[in-house]
Amino acid sequence: PAGLVIAVDGPAASGKGTLARRLSAHYGLPYLDTGLLYRMVARAMLEAGHDIRDAAAAGEIVSRFDQGAFDEDTLRGREIGEAASVVAAMPAVRSGLIERQRRFAGQPGGAVLDGRDIGTVICPQARAKLFVTATPEVRAARRHKELAGRGEEATFDNILADIRRRDARDSGRSDAPLKAADDAVILDTSALTIEEALAAAIAIVDRRR
Ligand code: C5P
Repeated sequence: PAGLVIAVDGPAASGKGTLARRLSAHYGLPYLDTGLLYRMVARAMLEAGHDIRDAAAAGEIVSRFDQGAFDEDTLRGREIGEAASVVAAMPAVRSGLIERQRRFAGQPGGAVLDGRDIGTVICPQARAKLFVTATPEVRAARRHKELAGRGEEATFDNILADIRRRDARDSGRSDAPLKAADDAVILDTSALTIEEALAAAIAIVDRRR
């Protein structure tokens, strides 16, 4: 692909979304938060009253999935994140979402995509791949602050438990598990401010341009 495709992967609350959004602004590229796709499937499952583990129902929802509006705010809650990681382990859900992600990445100038499997499965040819991590405690603290800002009540300990459970599920699934691509650069943001992480990410991308 001729365009500059930047793959940003990493675990929940690692800072990858913020970084990806800032990179898209810096390079003037469109940005897709692929977690929202799995969150939309999860929400449709919950709204229809399906058991979240019902893979046949989830496959059906994905096959009829239309673009729809991304009303991001209602998708970012805790319950939907948890449900999203359940449907995201289902091969029918993953395969049903591949094309739309690849089409987005194929835009002429390139694109920034963030998720779990962008560098490994969706865009293995991406020009630059970042794997963004931070310790579970740092991620829980960030998510705690974010959720508090949204008015969602949850203790630090509960959020840390959520994060550990989601890490285990995302890393342990057989289809497109969370892991760094061989050619990804690992960026640990535990001790970095957003500005420091952004500067490090830009330096990594610029080396690949
Ligand atoms: O990144 P976010 O927390 O919004 O993602 C929600 C869930 O969607 C993740 O826990 C993961 O299970 C799933 N996901 C995925 N592959 C992606 C993006 C998200 O499996 N590319």
